[in-house]
Formats: sequence, C-alpha cells, structure tokens
Amino acid sequence: PAPGWTADADVVVIGSGIAGLVAALRCRPHGRVLLVTKALLDAGSTRWAQGGIAAALAPDDTPEEHLADTLTAGVGICDENAVRALVTEGPDAVRGLIALGTAFDRSGGDIALTREGGHHRRRIAHAGGDATGAEISRALLAELKDSGVEVIEHALVLDLLKDAAGRAAGVTLHVMGEGQPGGVGAVRARAVVLATGGLGQVFSATTNPEVSTGDGVALALRAGAEVTDLEFVQFHPTVLWLGEGATGQQPLISEAVRGEGAHLVDHAGVRFMTGRHELAELAPRDVVAKGIMNRMRETGASHMLLDGRHLGAAVWETRFPTILAACRHHGIDPVTEPIPVVPAAHYASGGVRTDLHGRTSVPGLYACGEVACTGVHGANRLASNSLLEGLVFAARIAEALPGDLLASAEPGDAAPKTAPVPPDAAGAGLLEPALRGEIQRIMTTGAGVLRQATGLEAAVRELEGLGRGSAEPGVEAWEATNLHTVASAIVAAARRREETRGSHWREDFPERADGTWRGHLVTRLAGNVL
Ligand code: SIN
Repeated sequence: PAPGWTADADVVVIGSGIAGLVAALRCRPHGRVLLVTKALLDAGSTRWAQGGIAAALAPDDTPEEHLADTLTAGVGICDENAVRALVTEGPDAVRGLIALGTAFDRSGGDIALTREGGHHRRRIAHAGGDATGAEISRALLAELKDSGVEVIEHALVLDLLKDAAGRAAGVTLHVMGEGQPGGVGAVRARAVVLATGGLGQVFSATTNPEVSTGDGVALALRAGAEVTDLEFVQFHPTVLWLGEGATGQQPLISEAVRGEGAHLVDHAGVRFMTGRHELAELAPRDVVAKGIMNRMRETGASHMLLDGRHLGAAVWETRFPTILAACRHHGIDPVTEPIPVVPAAHYASGGVRTDLHGRTSVPGLYACGEVACTGVHGANRLASNSLLEGLVFAARIAEALPGDLLASAEPGDAAPKTAPVPPDAAGAGLLEPALRGEIQRIMTTGAGVLRQATGLEAAVRELEGLGRGSAEPGVEAWEATNLHTVASAIVAAARRREETRGSHWREDFPERADGTWRGHLVTRLAGNVL
C-alpha cells in the first residue's frame, strides 16, 4: 500500500523495551528521535523480566568471572569481544540505571544480589523481589517523558525503506486504532534502530507476551539483512505447568527461585539434577531444560516439580511476590506444595547480526536487545544477561551514531527512493491471522526443545504448505506472516546444524561437533527463499 502519510526524524527506534528506550534516550542528544512501538509503551518483554540483571557488582566478583560464565553457557560460539564489552561496561551501565532512579532491592546499604543458572557467583541485581523488568521499565519511561523523544504507540513496523544507495532511510508502519496519524504511513529517517524484542510466539507455549512475533527479524530478512544463530531458541526450564496443551504466554517461575535454594524433584521426590552437573539445579539453562525433559521421559510424567517449601512463607512473600501470586491464581501454593513445571520457549539467542556497535549488514540499520545477535549469547544465553545486553548495546549504538551519520550521505539524500515492499510485491501475500495457531503447533511439534531430521523436514513441508495467502492487510495478518517467515528461518537453520549445542538439541546428532560446527549459520532471504 502507498504510504498515506509521512513523518521525519533523524533516528527512528522501533520497540520500547529496555533496548529501545535506552537507544532512544541516548540518541536524543544527536538529533530528532521518534520511538515507535506496536502496542503500549510497556507491553513488551522487558516488563515481564523477573530474575534480574547480571553484572559484576559484588566486591568479590570481576568482569573476568562474568565473562567466563557467559562463554561457558554459550558453548563455544560466543563472540568473546562482544562478551567482554558486555561484562566490562555492565557494572557502570547498571549504576546508570540506578542514577536514573531504578530502585534495585538492597541488603543493608548494598545492592542485593542473587544467583541464577550458570553463574558461579551472586551477581543478579533485582527489584521488587521478582519484578525487575517492570521497575527498569518504569524508571526509563519516567525519563522518556520530558526527553523530547517523540512517540507513536500502536504502530506495527512493516518494512525498511532504503535509498538508492541501499542505505536504510526509514520504515513503513501500520498505525492502529486511534493513533495519530492513522493508517499505513512512512517514517523517513537517517538511521533505523530495531529493538523489537523476541519471537517466542512462534511456539505454542512461551514466556513471551502476545506481541513477541519476530517482527524485527522478519523485517530484517525482507530487507536483505543477515540474520544468524536462529536455531538457538532458548527454552526456560521452569514455567508453571498449566496442563496438557496449554498455549500462549505461560507464567515464568524465575531461576532466582532455584538461586535462593528451591530444588527440582520428580514425582517420587528425587532430586534429579544432582549428579548431572556440578551446579545441579543452577547449571546453565539448556542443561536444566534437558535434565527436566529427560526425567519426564524416564518417568513418563507430563511435568516435573520445583520444591521451594523450605524457603518459607516470608521469603516467598518478600522475594517472589509476583510468582507467588501467579501460582496462587492457578491454585498452587508454593509455600505448602511443590510447583509443577515444564520448559517453554523463552529467548532467541540469535537474531539480526550486528557488530559491536549494533550495525547490521544494511548500512543505517541498527539492532539491539533480543532482536539482535551481537554475539554475546552464543548457543545459550546466560541467565539475566538479556536486560544487560539491551542496556549496554543500545548505548553503544548511540555512541557510534554521530560518527556514522557524519560519514553517510547528507540528509537531503536520505529520502526514500524505493517504494515500500509489501509481501505481495516480493512474490508472496499476507497470511490469514487464523494460521498463527497452526504455525505454533508445527513449530512445537517439529522444532521445539527436542529436534530430529524427520520432525524438522515435516515442519518445512507443513510450513510450505501453509503457503502465502492474500489476507486483508492488518496487524494480525502481518503478525502471522512474520511468524511464518521467522519459523521457516528457524527450521532451516535447525535442519542444517547437525549437532547438539546449547539450546539446539538434535536427538539424531546428540554430540557437540566442534570440528564441523563451531561457526555460525547466517540466514538471508534471497527472492523470498531462505
Ligand atoms: C528468570 O528470571 O529466570 C529469567 C531470567 C532470564 O531470562 O534471564
């Protein structure tokens, strides 16, 4: 559709989680910034983050130790330079959040620190007990108010605009409801920052909110940008089990509950993680998820149990008020009974490939937060490194921006010279919104926590079979189309990687194959073919 309206900015930031908010605030001194978000400003994943934000803040901790734990969790394919930037800049970045008014929990005068999977030390700062993301989001949104950053809510990003030289020159948007201006439009900008978050909605059961439909990865693929490590979708080990076939966003039971001493047990009360890893329940996330899946198979159970009764009512009420309320809402009282848990899709360790300053392979297009693959997560993100990554790398984009803009063409040359490319102009149309559930079923069956060639091949066939329709343009149709694009890319990468590494678990290739697979799979969409 031809844009019905246009707006102009120096920088357009897409997404309003920690990465988008920090990018917008930090880019603001360098020009006019427009922040676009698909729903309300606080509707994304950040506000759901429970456990916290990791940084070497304790006197007995060091960035080197944080680096070592991150590299170990990433199973050999993290970019060490990116991890080094994350862990060395992390402590000051967290102090910066405190300076903005983020109220982290305290122990005496010091920031209270907890442990989570894969961390050998207490290094996770938290707020409101288990509502860390909500508090960070509150503080950043307060800062946004008088910052001069312009905001458009309820606007789904569609596609990247490029100038004649192939440089990002803005985006097309579909604005919903009563948003001003309305309908499909275009924002012209000299730099585009993708901070659209994750893609957990590709699977039936996920910790991600409804809005996490992989829009940024799909846009990047359509724009010809490189996307990498998509096969590494992390499954969080402990999500509240709501019965067979539960779909949609599921309540998370933070790793911090294990960090404070809760145990995973089977239905006979046996602790099955001890003996499987030196850190037992606090092994890296992929190891615990596999431990749970294996024990479910060995015992024929539909779920495992997280026993935190010994923490006592006071700890539950003060440290984990959100989780306590969610469990009680579903008829489980963690103070008196173990919590039924299963793994569910949680985090995309891969995404739009960037350098150390968030630059993607398309000039003028940047990415930060979950949508990006900066190289810090490798095959399996370390717990609570995600908020930190959004914070550190969004600031790095803002650092690079003035120089990048100076080096690029004058603003006059940045007006989009190519029309927006809707899916049908690329040889395909929009999917019917009703296909969302079908995509989720296919992915959960064929490309979920356990993968093998036959299941992945069936997923390819079924996804292809859904074809491309010609649905009425609208947000749900765009989301279904984006989910389909991203699902197809995940399956393609998962089929190619014939080994087991981190959160990519191939039952037909159960070993890690460093000789062949210590690299990255880069996905590009060429003529709509992966
Ligand atoms: C959790 O609280 O367990 C989630 C933290 C994370 O995903 O890093």
